[in-house]
Amino acid sequence: MAKILIHSGTLLSSSGQTLGDVLIEDEIIGAIGAPGYFSEVASTCDKVIDATGKYVLPGGIDVHTHMELPFGGTAASDTFATGSTAAAWGGTTSIIDFAVQRTGEDVHDGLAAWHAKAVGNCVIDYGFHMIIGGVDDAALDAMEDLTNNEGITSFKLFMAYPGVFYSDDGQILRAMQKASSLGAMMMMHAENGPAIDVLVSQALERGETDPRYHSLTRPVEMEEEATHRAIMLAKVAKAPLYIVHMSAKEAVRAVVEARDRGANVFGETCPQYLYLSLEEHLSKPGFEGAAYVCSTPLRSREEGHQDALWQYLRTNDLSVVSTDHCPFCMKDQKELGLGNFSKIPNGIGSVEHRMDLLYQGVVTGEITLERWVEIACTTPARMFGLYPKKGVLAAGSDADVVVYDPNAVTNIGVATHHMNMDHSAYEGIRVNGHVDTVLSRGSVVIENNTFTGRVGHGQYLRRGLSQYLI
Ligand code: URP
Ligand code: ZN
Ligand code: ZN
Repeated sequence: MAKILIHSGTLLSSSGQTLGDVLIEDEIIGAIGAPGYFSEVASTCDKVIDATGKYVLPGGIDVHTHMELPFGGTAASDTFATGSTAAAWGGTTSIIDFAVQRTGEDVHDGLAAWHAKAVGNCVIDYGFHMIIGGVDDAALDAMEDLTNNEGITSFKLFMAYPGVFYSDDGQILRAMQKASSLGAMMMMHAENGPAIDVLVSQALERGETDPRYHSLTRPVEMEEEATHRAIMLAKVAKAPLYIVHMSAKEAVRAVVEARDRGANVFGETCPQYLYLSLEEHLSKPGFEGAAYVCSTPLRSREEGHQDALWQYLRTNDLSVVSTDHCPFCMKDQKELGLGNFSKIPNGIGSVEHRMDLLYQGVVTGEITLERWVEIACTTPARMFGLYPKKGVLAAGSDADVVVYDPNAVTNIGVATHHMNMDHSAYEGIRVNGHVDTVLSRGSVVIENNTFTGRVGHGQYLRRGLSQYLI
């Protein structure tokens, strides 16, 4: 049995921190002990990692990625191999990607296509949510099969993108009723797509073609209204609801109200909505702003969305931070929207930076160390049926472990990142803290600023039901 000892680190959990040692046996955490507790077995270990002065935390879980997603006339530029490698560099040891059923396609065919992309190509463990792009009787039956037999217990619908992924309210209600009967989680892209399409056409007619019009034609009200409508539909269906990639504070307010009346409604945001803005990024001169086109869009800093999102993270009104990693290169991809913002592929890539960027929230006093672990590791695991296999340092859990050095720094940019992107939304930013060592199921995948993992090590995660539902 291979044994690894990580000793003298500050062990972090969502509920506290303590000095201690972690003994790893093959793929599993064998035991956690007080400092020095395992000193007698240290000489029998295959590897000993000194974590003095460093944090030791569960591997990050990014529950919202889009590797190789065909979208916007092109496809997301990270494969499962490149994207999962970049994730590992950043201290993320599990991803949940979105398998896709398009309108008119069989759900099982869509799922099989996603398995084919991922199998044998991941460095870290991976699971799938299923995008249901055409709610009909067959798709509803498939939801049941996926939940009961395939380890896919969460389904994303879109109130946006008419003609691509869009579901109307009747379809949404039917899918929510099915999810309710299964105990499955409904995930919602909450923006009023048909109304946005009108605003986009009108803007283009006025000659408003620059990237910033992407946000101006997707006003806060379109997110707020759709969020409220999704919550009402979920109430009628008695279904749990997880609103993805929230950027507008008014929309989160609707989540707060639902949670205050005890509803199983959860909100997710992403680093881009905490750090980037309409004024400073999407409105960069020329076509530069295209790098920041994503949906929901970046919001105005003057209106205070970013500060409000941090506050909602502190108060647990927002439960999870994922990346919505959907990378496109500027060349040949974002450039599809030169002269017409509506043709810019929607998405920002940051799977590599989520743990570091959220740690900045600790450095700047926005969140505590414990909350960092909670929103990036533990809650994602519980929300999507992976706990306690993932998301916690505990005897019996998978040995997905990050040693994090708070005294080192990380320089973010295209010269240093490992994502398959020709630009970075965080170019030139120097952050406090650095991912020191990463283990995925007991295998060291990052050490001494070197990748030591293996494409194909990552295994498919069959997930259970959400562990938050009451
Ligand atoms: O802009 C985004 N968010 N692209 C990815 C697709 C989605 O809606 O999550
Ligand atoms: Zn979406
Ligand atoms: Zn997404």
